[in-house]
Amino acid sequence: MPRLKILFSLPECFPFAKTGGLGDVGGALPIALAARGHDVRVVMPRYRVTRKFESKPLAGPLGIPYGPGTLWTGVRRGQLSSKRGAVVPVYFLDHDGLYDREGVYGDARGGYGDNTERYSVLSRGSIELCRYLGFEPDVIHVHDWPTCLVPVLLDTVEQGTALARAASVLTIHNMGYQGWSSRDSYSEMGLPFSPEILGALDLNGQLNLLKAGILHSTIVSTVSPNYAREIQTKEGGEGLDAFLRMRGGDVMGVLNGIDEEAWNPEVDPHIAANFSAEDLSGKAVCKAALQREMGLPERPDVPVIGLISRLVGQKGVDLVVDALYQLMATGAQFVFLGSGDKSIEEVFQRASLSTPNVRAFIGMNEGLAHRIEAGADLFLMPSRYEPCGLNQLYSQRYGTLPIVRAVGGLEDTVDNGSTGFKFHELSSEALVGTVRWALETYAEPALFRSMQYRAMQKQSGWSHAAQQYEALYRFAVRKRRRALGQVRAVRL
Ligand code: ADP
Ligand code: GLC
Repeated sequence: MPRLKILFSLPECFPFAKTGGLGDVGGALPIALAARGHDVRVVMPRYRVTRKFESKPLAGPLGIPYGPGTLWTGVRRGQLSSKRGAVVPVYFLDHDGLYDREGVYGDARGGYGDNTERYSVLSRGSIELCRYLGFEPDVIHVHDWPTCLVPVLLDTVEQGTALARAASVLTIHNMGYQGWSSRDSYSEMGLPFSPEILGALDLNGQLNLLKAGILHSTIVSTVSPNYAREIQTKEGGEGLDAFLRMRGGDVMGVLNGIDEEAWNPEVDPHIAANFSAEDLSGKAVCKAALQREMGLPERPDVPVIGLISRLVGQKGVDLVVDALYQLMATGAQFVFLGSGDKSIEEVFQRASLSTPNVRAFIGMNEGLAHRIEAGADLFLMPSRYEPCGLNQLYSQRYGTLPIVRAVGGLEDTVDNGSTGFKFHELSSEALVGTVRWALETYAEPALFRSMQYRAMQKQSGWSHAAQQYEALYRFAVRKRRRALGQVRAVRL
């Protein structure tokens, strides 16, 4: 099979920038595809947080058509690499005014007001970068609303050019973020006046980038099969379900994998001791170290329940807040790591100061995330909705049994009573009831140990998903070329 030329155009990619799971996927999937022999490249902004990573400037700036003129950005090249030798070039668009800021999407005051412009430049810049590099991708893989303009541009301003032959694949990581803006902001995107582009973006008199991406990408995918079903219903579609249903068979669910090099208890450098499914003695060391680090009584017999999350409505953390006293009354210890909603941050901080068995760390802390996965016995994910979720997969790999609400990818990845514990109803009663069940199981060491063993043995790496994406890309390429009347006797 000929190798594919694939461009990933995305707003975050670990380790260069990460606000959540999209960053993890961006850092791992390109490597998994390169390991299968494909020519994969990534393009993203050079944020302030990205500057600490090594990169080399390319000669000459990149000119991006913008309104009647041209916007110039620098281009730098860094790379993603794996221990097994796969390497992926990462191109950073370097523009101080747009990207050299404290946050990725926003700061303490909220989202940046010019995000539409910042990501329109990334989208148009992704296409111009191909021209600049002399790279004609078979597929441009875009992620979430920030790069949804790419498929629209390929169908409009790029029509007839060599680059328009590229198929576009849009992966939706979260329907809750759609890139809404007012119609007036069209001019800020630097696009030519085009009734077709405006029509694609228009939704009830406003602009919606995700909708435009759904309509124009060759294939739409999302990050679990169950979420692919949910988003086509009124309940899960966040107002865009009709557009997804219109795409019918073009909407697919590919379950995320995890980076098995970065999240591996056998070699993880962030944790106090390494361990494996066969020998959990190191996990006990990690538990004691976590209790010490968080200022909890160092008690091997008391179960530790972890939670690592963006503190937003999606994650159902309000259920934990509502149930806090009942949860504390179980006698378990709780370790919370997260940031987001100020009122939830405050509740967690207050509980942390006033309660002997609750500790919270507010902010992003990659190392602590690993130490919680390794040191906790159980992990909470009571999500309202969850496109895939990565933390339950990390938990399973670290023998930390997840307690999850059975939605989206959590339903697909947790086997109830076998590799974790599930509840259905969105209520703090259901959450507390399931936590009690998990704690009763913890009190039966042989049963708990057998569940840990099963969870740790699960195959959750990227290789299966990379194979599925490869098939999806080939399908998309054939579909695109057919649509352009360019199908030749090429086997793709
Ligand atoms: P989402 O992308 O919706 O936030 P996921 O479960 O897919 O949810 O991925 C979340 C990722 O972000 C995980 O890698 C998790 O460890 C990480 N994460 C979330 N909050 C924090 C935090 N406060 N500190 C460190 N890592 C965090
Ligand atoms: C999103 C989702 C999460 C998913 C992640 C990576 O942010 O909320 O469920 O795991 O993207 O695909």
